[in-house]
Amino acid sequence: MRNISTSFEDYDRIYRQSVEQPEAFWAGIASEFYWRKKWDKVLEWDFTKPEVNWFQGGKLNITENCLDRHLATRANQTAIIWEPNDPKSSAKHITYKALHSEVCKVANMLKANGIKKGDRVCIYMPMVPELAYAVLACARIGAIHSVVFAGFSSASLATRINDADCKMLLTSDGSFRGAKTIALKEICDVALEECPSIERVITLKVIDSPVEMKADRDIWWHEALSQVDDDCPAEEMDAEDPLFILYTSGSTGSPKGMVHSTGGYMVYTTYTFLNAFQYEEGDIYWCTADIGWITGHSYIVYGPLAAGATTVMFEGVPSYPDFGRFWEICEKHKVNQFYTAPTAIRALAKHPTELVTKYDLSALKVLGTVGEPINEEAWHWYNEHVGKKNCPIIDTWWQTETGGFMISPIAGQTPLVPTYATQPMPGILPAIMDENGEEIKDIEAQGRLAIKFPWPSIARTIWGNHERYKNTYFSAFPNMYFPGDGCLRDNNGNYRITGRVDDVVIVSGHNLGTAPIENAINEHVNVAESAVVGFPHDVKGNALFAFVITKGENIDSTRLTDEIRTIVSEKIGPIAKPDHIQLVPGLPKTRSGKIMRRILRKIASNDTSNLGDTSTLLNPEVVEAIMEQVKG
Ligand code: WTA
Repeated sequence: MRNISTSFEDYDRIYRQSVEQPEAFWAGIASEFYWRKKWDKVLEWDFTKPEVNWFQGGKLNITENCLDRHLATRANQTAIIWEPNDPKSSAKHITYKALHSEVCKVANMLKANGIKKGDRVCIYMPMVPELAYAVLACARIGAIHSVVFAGFSSASLATRINDADCKMLLTSDGSFRGAKTIALKEICDVALEECPSIERVITLKVIDSPVEMKADRDIWWHEALSQVDDDCPAEEMDAEDPLFILYTSGSTGSPKGMVHSTGGYMVYTTYTFLNAFQYEEGDIYWCTADIGWITGHSYIVYGPLAAGATTVMFEGVPSYPDFGRFWEICEKHKVNQFYTAPTAIRALAKHPTELVTKYDLSALKVLGTVGEPINEEAWHWYNEHVGKKNCPIIDTWWQTETGGFMISPIAGQTPLVPTYATQPMPGILPAIMDENGEEIKDIEAQGRLAIKFPWPSIARTIWGNHERYKNTYFSAFPNMYFPGDGCLRDNNGNYRITGRVDDVVIVSGHNLGTAPIENAINEHVNVAESAVVGFPHDVKGNALFAFVITKGENIDSTRLTDEIRTIVSEKIGPIAKPDHIQLVPGLPKTRSGKIMRRILRKIASNDTSNLGDTSTLLNPEVVEAIMEQVKG
């Protein structure tokens, strides 16, 4: 499956094959997996509907590929190395055999509590091994998991549970985050007041704190687990059956429940994992993401396990007990491939390099980055201090919606250009579109990125809203997928992602739609209207700036801004709290009443020397007033 292995010419040859004969190419890769029944048709697609089917008629269970298939050859190999929050506690090495048994037990626990194929199970848990078991247990019995990142607020959790009509919630009493603990079950209890579909809550003891248990609904994980055994045959799934739902922020409205399929997702995540990282048998691979995000789904759990890799799972945070923790873990577990986000790199780079150099990082072979465009300074720091100029950095561009890497170097083979994601993965056909929606054919180009051909792990729909799926991703350019990113291409055909071109702002690697934050702010009785924009921040990448028009008498501005932060934290989550809140007399608007966010972005970024075309601006005096205030 690792079919690119010698050189960039090798990549070139494989890439050509993949785009000239995509069906033969992906059928070849797919046949290296275990299928209960082979597919009838490799690909059927129509981006106008949009509809994409890969390996139709194929029958499989992804956990037989992640677990059972490996038992003959690697039963005693470590599948997951779990590193706890507290560095003084010992790590757990979970073998493939043990993982198989744990997953089967949890699967039986789900079944014993009424979960059947097709039911939705919400998982709101910290980074403990049971989170991985739970994800795989759902897949084992054909239940659709919806993992919600355990940093989201109760309101965000409730919205997601209700959108997917989840029948069960898996959670824990709490979580360890560095020196702090967070009471997760309490957050769930608040959410569940609004969630009538949840029939059963199973709570894992993690921090050993007292929790309230509601009769007939809440049970303890350890008690439920003690009543089942580890014999759980896998449910036979169709290649196109949904594997999971994962929510991502949109530029407007509620979060979008991206639905991923089983067969294509498995094939693509495994293939891209092995090839981009050049993972070799016996390597120790560590992705620092949380399983609550797509990076964790695809490149901690499914891709690495289907590939038979050893994958590290870390419960804690990069700053605890100090900012050397990542490197301590790399040394301790002799990590060979290390994959993190630019925001983490920037945060770590602010601390003395001694925190890196005191650890032995000689096992490292490949570094990776994901989540937002990496800036030049962070790239060089990563290259010099972590990689010792000896480890290729793969800058992987992709999305929740794409399921797997789209544009990324092949480690050690693709010539690197700092801050460039470089070349498309096999099977990916990118295009750069101009302002008129025409493809720019010149090799050097800048515009909006689009993808012209389906790949196996493209999300199939938005849960319960196919129309929104079509409008969001397939209406910008006919017959193409539009990811929402801007991009440029150099004269060697290398791609550099320049950032979002919609109203999504990436703060510390988390996608945040500005509209839902504005809606939260507007709920305050003293707020008439608000506009939220992003501005550059040296650690977070972007931070949020809220411009707020107040209403009512005798407003205490300090109190109001505090209350606005609290509302945002409660409605969305602490990550969405604005760094700056400016109370303003008005917002710049066009004659048709649209807020001119472009101007607000410039003001927030302190870049007001040229505001661009302001001919449609209705109220220039407001812009002057806001600029004065912000300067003050
Ligand atoms: C951005 C994360 C530049 C991009 C896997 C994309 C990146 C959004 C990169 C998806 C990268 C991700 N270079 N930008 N290497 N990786 N992005 O859904 O704007 O959390 O559209 O998926 O992150 O974020 P998501």
